[in-house]
Amino acid sequence: MARKVILDCDPGIDDAMALCLALFDPRLEVMAVTAVGGNVTPAQATRNVQAIVEQLDPPRWPRLGAASPPDNGLPVDGRNLHGSDGLGGADFDVAELHHVHPSEKVICDQVRGAPPGSVSIIALGPLTNVARAFQRDPELPGLVGELIMMGGTVAGPGNITPTAEFNIYCDPPAARAVFRSPSTKTLIPLDATNRIVLNFDLLNKLPAPSTKVGNILHRILPPAFRGYRQRFGLEGIHVHDSVALMASIHPELFTIEEMAGDVETAGELTLGMTVFDRRRVPKWRRNIGVAQHLRQREVVDAILRGIREAAAHAG
Ligand code: RIB
Ligand code: CA
Repeated sequence: MARKVILDCDPGIDDAMALCLALFDPRLEVMAVTAVGGNVTPAQATRNVQAIVEQLDPPRWPRLGAASPPDNGLPVDGRNLHGSDGLGGADFDVAELHHVHPSEKVICDQVRGAPPGSVSIIALGPLTNVARAFQRDPELPGLVGELIMMGGTVAGPGNITPTAEFNIYCDPPAARAVFRSPSTKTLIPLDATNRIVLNFDLLNKLPAPSTKVGNILHRILPPAFRGYRQRFGLEGIHVHDSVALMASIHPELFTIEEMAGDVETAGELTLGMTVFDRRRVPKWRRNIGVAQHLRQREVVDAILRGIREAAAHAG
C-alpha cells in the first residue's frame, strides 16, 4: 500500500527534483505539497509549487498549500544558487494561481483527515509550516506517522554559516519547536546529503525534454551545475532534498542513530546550529533519529532510477 505523505518544500532546484521523483513514485501517495519560504520568498515558493505540479500534472493532484513569512522574516535566501525565481531561471508558466489555503492549515487538515499515524511529513525546507501546524493543533505531533526533515548538521560544517545549515537557519525557533515536539522525527543532515554529488554525466542521462519530467530537469539542472561550479568550484551538484526523499522511500539505505538534539536560537555565531548531546554519558533525552551514514552508490542509483521511472509514469 502506498505511503501517504505531505511534501513541505521551498522550491528550490533540489526541491523541484524531489517533487518530480515523489509525484510519480508508486510507493508514495502525495496527499499535499505545501510551500514554505526559504530558497525564495513565500510568494515565489507558492508560485513555484503550483508551477511544478502544473508542469507534471500527476494523475491525482495533491492539495497545495500557500507559504507565509516566518514570524521573524527570512534572514537569507537561496537565489544565488537556485536563481532569481528559485528554479534556475526556468520561469515556468503558471496557468492560474488557484486560491490555496495556508500550508499549515493544509497539513493539519490532511493529517486529521486520515487514520492516526497514516500520514508522514517530508520537510524539505525551513520548518516554519510544521511548527505552525503543531502550534495550531497540539495533538498533531502524535497523529503524524513520521516527520522526515532535510536539515542541520551533526559533525560537519554548516552551509549558510560556519555552524548552521540553511533550512534550520531560516527559522531557528520553528526548528527548535519541532525538535522538541513529541513527533517521531528523522533528520537527514548535511553529514549525509553532502556525501551525494551528481556529476555532469547526469545531464546525459536525463529523460527527453519532450517528457514532463525531462522538460523540468533539462531546464533547472544546467543552472544548478553552473552555480555549484561558480560558487564552490564543484564539478557536480548536491541534491539534498532528493536524498532526504530517498530516506522515506528506501530507508534501508540509511543508518539511523537515535540522538538527543536541539537548535540554537540565540547565538551570535551559532544561530541555527543543530546541537547534539554526544557526551560519554548524555544528559539530554534522545528525541530524534539522525541519518549520518548512507550507502552512497545505492542512493545515487535509486535517484537515477527514480528519475527514469517518474518520466515513464508521467509521460
Ligand atoms: O541546506 C540544503 C537545504 O536548503 C535544501 O533543502 C535546499 O533546497 C535548501 O532549502
Ligand atoms: Ca529545500
